[in-house]
Amino acid sequence: MKIPRMKNKQLSELLGNITALHLAARVLVIVSFFCVSNFSSAALNDREKAKFIHDRLTGVLPSAVMLTEMEDIISLNNGGSGAFDAALVAIDGNNNVDASGAFYNVTVKNWASPWTNEEDDIFAPLNDYSALVIGLVRDEEDFSLLLSGDILYLGADSSLPSYAMNNNNHYQQLESSGANLGDSSVFVKTTQSSQLDIDPRGIAGFFSTRAAAKAFFSDGTNRAMLRFTVRNHLCNDMEQLKDTSLPADRIRQDVSRSPGGDSRIYLTSCVGCHSGMDPLTQAFAYHQWEYFDDKDSGRLTYTPGIVQDKFLINETNFKNGFVTTDDSWTNHWRQGENVEKLGWISGSEIYTQGTGAKSMGEELANTKAFAYCQVTKAFKSVCLREPSESDRSTVDAIAVNFMSAYNMKNVFAELAVNCADGF
Ligand code: HEC
Repeated sequence: MKIPRMKNKQLSELLGNITALHLAARVLVIVSFFCVSNFSSAALNDREKAKFIHDRLTGVLPSAVMLTEMEDIISLNNGGSGAFDAALVAIDGNNNVDASGAFYNVTVKNWASPWTNEEDDIFAPLNDYSALVIGLVRDEEDFSLLLSGDILYLGADSSLPSYAMNNNNHYQQLESSGANLGDSSVFVKTTQSSQLDIDPRGIAGFFSTRAAAKAFFSDGTNRAMLRFTVRNHLCNDMEQLKDTSLPADRIRQDVSRSPGGDSRIYLTSCVGCHSGMDPLTQAFAYHQWEYFDDKDSGRLTYTPGIVQDKFLINETNFKNGFVTTDDSWTNHWRQGENVEKLGWISGSEIYTQGTGAKSMGEELANTKAFAYCQVTKAFKSVCLREPSESDRSTVDAIAVNFMSAYNMKNVFAELAVNCADGF
């Protein structure tokens, strides 16, 4: 039996992973804010509120022009949408007067970077996965396309190295050039299918980005891609989704049915995760991170119709286990305890099974867990703490609103306003 290589980090740890630098910058701004407000415990006045919102969204001090602009917008419609409108101005920079892009270049980038690697590294250089997140937020795209869309964001500057399957130079140089990622003439939307050298059937949101493929399709059995998606985007680790009552018909041959000679362990432990995970992971049967000596210079490959060897390894662990013959997936989490935990939105008559990574990504994004997870992670980023019991109704309202159009920019703005109100 092989010991599964997995870490049991909890979401709280993931959420707690805010860059020290960014945090320090914010604390500085908050401290200066306290000084200005003389530790007043009363509700914030409009100018203080503007400053607070700007700080939480961008981590930098607003210019005097920006601050006054935001204050005026709040005052104009105080108690109505004023603060929300001002938050959008902080995000997108007051008609470019303050268009440093700090919200995109720092806040959203730091929000996304830990998801792009196995170590939750917030200092990871900009890459096609974090760029995709930034672009979807900026352009107010349907954020659920993160798990399925044929979308890619690139720097427009023709002096940058072009997008490459086997290196990250394009994004690293885009980042070090200091480009404002909030500027849609500098950082542009395109398709993966126009840039990636793979069959378009293999394209599916971040799953087919170079960064995610390198992190989660290299070595192993491709289960890591599913596990980290569930962890980072449904805010549940596999441990939390264990359900030993689900059908075990699709568990692969590499999972021993009597680990250490004891079949009870298989029935009480292994089945709990592998029953649901293995048939979903099958959507990645044709994906592989191909490399020779150096993982960093490898590339994503996709072999439609040909199942990758990693799905068929260690077949003698249990000869009668499931043998993968194609990339069709089945979602056993549509039954049992996980129905409530994940909250499927559209009916099982449409989903439950499919073929390939794109439809599987749509299926996972089609949960309340996906929506709540994005809101909860953004809450932590903007409010600098975990949501508490008393924040539940706010988080609920924002998540329900989010599910209507999956506009992630609005979520950030709404959260900044709510944190300012609760201050
Ligand atoms: C808490 C959920 C969970 C339980 C319980 C669990 N597994 Fe896994 N298993 C995983 C995940 C997740 C992976 C993928 C790990 C990765 O590649 O990062 C995995 C991978 C594996 C692999 C492939 C190892 C490799 O080389 O990548 C085998 C074999 C395996 N598990 C066997 C078992 C057996 C046998 C048991 C029971 C003793 C078991 N697992 C229990 C979640 C679980």
